[in-house]
Amino acid sequence: MFTQRLGIYIFLGFISLSVAYKITPIVTQEGIPDFLNITTEPFVRLGNNYYYFRSNIITNWYDAYQSCRDMGAGLIDFESIEEWNLINNYLNDTGIYKKYWTSSNLLADKKNVTNRTWFSTGKPMTLDIWYPGEPNNLGGNELCDEMGRYGTPKFWGLNDANCYDKLCFICKALKPATASFLVW
Ligand code: BGC
Ligand code: CA
Repeated sequence: MFTQRLGIYIFLGFISLSVAYKITPIVTQEGIPDFLNITTEPFVRLGNNYYYFRSNIITNWYDAYQSCRDMGAGLIDFESIEEWNLINNYLNDTGIYKKYWTSSNLLADKKNVTNRTWFSTGKPMTLDIWYPGEPNNLGGNELCDEMGRYGTPKFWGLNDANCYDKLCFICKALKPATASFLVW
């Protein structure tokens, strides 16, 4: 009997608490609102994404991928030509012209050179951003794709390369989302 009553009191107490504060609505939005002023270093924000340009070390594709994962990110993928142009412009502005690993690769199906995927997202790599003459699978063992600035005048393009070549790399953070609610 006593236990039952106690149970009812606790229940009523909970009800009165929950009507004292109205919590509405719970909103999730992409990105980080500017007013939060959050430090994302060493990742820089370009468009709606965050990137970490590892321009001062060189390593193979696998190690580059692991290093990005270690930071909760992935090796860079390009979702659109706009994103590709954004990164090209950023690198041109910084004036640092290195070769960078991307997550585009042919590892899962090396017999079919058109079946490349972004390892970070599993999505097909369909963008035509190859440097002229690439991918050429030189020596029959170029399964990982790097971006470099070649030609005269120089411009950025993708080249298939040996996955054990040592290059710089770019990590891209998973898309941040912000959840907010109003207490009233
Ligand atoms: C690279 C190849 C590339 C070729 C272009 C070589 O140094 O290893 O991946 O296709 O240059 O000429
Ligand atoms: Ca090549």
